[in-house]
Amino acid sequence: MYRGCVKIVSVQRAAELLRAGGLVAFPTETVYGLGANALDPLAVRRIFAAKGRPPTNPLIVHVADVAAARALVRVWPPAAQRLADAFWPGPLTLVLPKQPQVPDIVTAGLDAVGVRVPSHPLAQELLRSTGLPIAAPSANRSTELSPTRPEHVARSLGSALDGIVDGGPTALGLESAVIDLTGAEPRLLRPGSLDLDRLREVCGPLRWEGNVIARKGEAQLAPGMMERHYAPRAQLVLVDADDPAQLEAIKKDSQSLRARGRKVGCLGFGVLQLKADWTHAFDPQDPETVGRELYARLHELDERGADVIYMERPPAGNRWLAIRDRLQRASVKG
Ligand code: TXA
Ligand code: MG
Repeated sequence: MYRGCVKIVSVQRAAELLRAGGLVAFPTETVYGLGANALDPLAVRRIFAAKGRPPTNPLIVHVADVAAARALVRVWPPAAQRLADAFWPGPLTLVLPKQPQVPDIVTAGLDAVGVRVPSHPLAQELLRSTGLPIAAPSANRSTELSPTRPEHVARSLGSALDGIVDGGPTALGLESAVIDLTGAEPRLLRPGSLDLDRLREVCGPLRWEGNVIARKGEAQLAPGMMERHYAPRAQLVLVDADDPAQLEAIKKDSQSLRARGRKVGCLGFGVLQLKADWTHAFDPQDPETVGRELYARLHELDERGADVIYMERPPAGNRWLAIRDRLQRASVKG
């Protein structure tokens, strides 16, 4: 279906397009990225325009290996080496002081750049065949759901793209963890597909200040901490399924919405039971499975025309941190 409106391109063609200043979406092991040559400010400007992304939110630069990452930064502390040895290629982004060759538009004027070595074979092939660092945010309109399949990219960005490299569904489904190594102590800026306890085993002390949700206009203080983010078109409502009063209220709301012809989706872990138009219980209920499927389920409900999605709040504990973070932001009203 999406093949009609957006061009699926080979890695070789994608590399040519990127070298010529084009915009190409490509798979990584986390989500699809919207790539442009990171050293070409005009190409990078097209990323911000296509996404409708505020210029205050910096981009991750993808490179093929540690040597290419080190070439973009001024400092390479021991913690960076340990983290890179343990998790690269993989779903980890390190923020480090940038070399002057990294254009200011990439870092939103900050002195530090986020670098990541993705493990997806097509991403690796693309990076190696261009020989370029590729700036790539998730390939979706700003604040909307991230894409884990090429059709999600096509629906969100369509004609703004020069091509999509089709790698099918992504393996992890949630974005990389972002660690800031510019301060006295490493700081987790965004929980992601690597969990906090595993990161701490390698990194040592790693500060996590909780889900800081910045108000509009504060993006520069806390890049990526914008209040509404990762959001489906439908309104997402998180439900404490073990709170009987809330459950009763939700059941009534859902019933009255449906009585007025509104469409209701229900996602959960087996406890939340609602009469809905579509219901899905994640199984098995582990963060890896939920992480892999979450965005695809939300995309699917949007596509079917859900007006409201009730979702059972995920369990407590560090393993669920990234999922709780995404859902909390996604449920902020637009
Ligand atoms: O898994 C991922 O990280 C995907 C794939 C495509 O690599 N990319 C991704 O990019 O999620 P994006 O732009 O959607 O999210 C990047 C996050 C944002 O929260 C951004 O603010 C933060 O990383 N970030 C990037 N560069 C930064 C910097 N120099 N300083 C602080 N935060 C930075
Ligand atoms: Mg994103």
